[in-house]
Amino acid sequence: MHNNMKKHLVVLTGAGVSAESGLPTFRDANGLWMGHDVYEVASPEGWKKDPALVLDFYNQRRRDVAKVSPNEAHLAIAELQQQYKVTVITQNIDDLHERAGSKNVLHLHGEIFTMRSEKDDTALYNIKGDIHLGDKARDGHQYRPHVVWFGEQVPNILRARDIMADADIFVLAGTSLQVYPAAGLIDYLDEQVPKYIIDKNPPFTAPHHNFYPVKGTATEGMKELLKILSENG
Ligand code: OAD
Repeated sequence: MHNNMKKHLVVLTGAGVSAESGLPTFRDANGLWMGHDVYEVASPEGWKKDPALVLDFYNQRRRDVAKVSPNEAHLAIAELQQQYKVTVITQNIDDLHERAGSKNVLHLHGEIFTMRSEKDDTALYNIKGDIHLGDKARDGHQYRPHVVWFGEQVPNILRARDIMADADIFVLAGTSLQVYPAAGLIDYLDEQVPKYIIDKNPPFTAPHHNFYPVKGTATEGMKELLKILSENG
């Protein structure tokens, strides 16, 4: 229990939470990784080989995110803040949790509206429009997306583990749990923490995790979860 006596509710989200806003997931039919070679557009090797292609891929992602709005799942997660201290750990690079009103969001895989120089990962730039080859950060080097690519470190994973270890209630929503280290976060939860899973096709989780499956899509499942929590505390 915490000082303000509110329980700490932690939500770990993935692309499935933004699907009903109109953003494609990665691994579902018609997902982003069905139409793109992951290593071409999301690895340091791909960036070296064809940075223009990579910039173009993320320009499209940025335009897609700018066009859509938070859905009822994002809004329900923000609403939980009335009852709980809520931390959202998200694998998503969109800003829909923030736009829905969530105050405490940790992005594991970066943010689409942030760029950085390819030589310096400490200075971050807020960018809403397209970025092309030749567009440079203040240090004179090419801008690259502030996104974690395959083969790169996940700097926020240590903070995420601490947050998981502090959870009183846990919700896993809209992630296939295919990508590590994010997928390993559920091992940092205390054993007695109630755990809910919301996913239209829930990934396998080990029986000892004892996840309670909430039926429906992210928007339906989150609504159902609000009901369950108001009954169980
Ligand atoms: P995936 O595409 O791997 O998984 C999406 C999950 O959402 C699946 O479990 C689907 O069943 C579920 N889903 C789809 N539509 C849904 C809906 N309307 N309601 C509820 N659930 C739904 O996406 P992630 O698990 O987020 O990383 O992928 C993890 C990481 O892989 C991403 O952050 C990205 C990607 O490579 C990087 O780019 C670094």
